Amino acid sequence: MHRVERPFRSRRRASGLLWVLLPVAVTAGLFWYGRAHTPDYASSLFGRRFDDANLLKAQLGTALLGLALVQLLLALWMYGRLPGLRAAPRPVRTGHRLVGLGAFLLSLPIAYHCINAYGVQLTDSRIALHSFSGCFLYGAFVTKVIVVRHHRLPGWALPVAGGALIVLIALLWYSAALWRLNGHHVPGL
Ligand code: HEM
Repeated sequence: MHRVERPFRSRRRASGLLWVLLPVAVTAGLFWYGRAHTPDYASSLFGRRFDDANLLKAQLGTALLGLALVQLLLALWMYGRLPGLRAAPRPVRTGHRLVGLGAFLLSLPIAYHCINAYGVQLTDSRIALHSFSGCFLYGAFVTKVIVVRHHRLPGWALPVAGGALIVLIALLWYSAALWRLNGHHVPGL
C-alpha cells in the first residue's frame, strides 16, 4: 500500500509547490520587467497621454475600487456576515464572479499603462508602495483563482486571498488615484 501512496503523495507535493511558485513568478516577473524596461513616458491610454492619461487612470482606478467594494459586500453576503440578509441566492455567486472578472479586465489597461509609461519606480515611499502593490496585485489575482479551484485548502484561505486583493486595490488607489484626484497629496505619503 505504501508503494502506491508514496508516488501519489510526492506528485501532490510537487503540484502544490507549483501552485505556490506561480503567483511568486507572476509578481517577480512584473517587478523584473518594470525595472528592466525603459519607461516610455509618452505612451498613451485610450488616446490620452501624460497628465491626461494619469487623470483617466485615477478615474478608472476609482471605478476599480468601487468594484472591489462590491466584491467585498457580495462575499460577506455569501459567508452570511451581512446582518438582516438571509442566505445568499445563486445569482449572488454569479454576480461575484462577473464583478471579479470585470475588475480584473478593468485593471489591465491601467496597469499596462503604468508599467509601460513608468515601470517599477522606487524614487519615494509613495511611488515605491504603489509599484510594489501593482506587482503583488497580479500575484494575488493568480493566488485567488488557485484557491477558488482547490477545494482541499482550509476554509480561511479564500477570505484571506480575497481580502489581500481588496487591500492591494485600496493601496493602489490611495497611493496614486486619490493622490492625483486630491491635488497630488494624500495624508501619510
Ligand atoms: C504592475 C502594476 C503597476 C505598476 C508597476 C505601477 C507603477 C506606477 C508608477 C511608477 C507610477 C508613476 C508614479 C506616480 O506619479 O504616481 C504610476 C502612476 C499611476 N498609477 Fe500605477 N502601477 C501599477 C498598477 C496600477 C493600478 C492597478 C492602478 C489602479 C488604481 C494604478 C493607478 C495609477 C494612477 C492613477 C497613476 C497616476 C498618478 C499620477 O497622476 O501621477 N496603477 N503607476
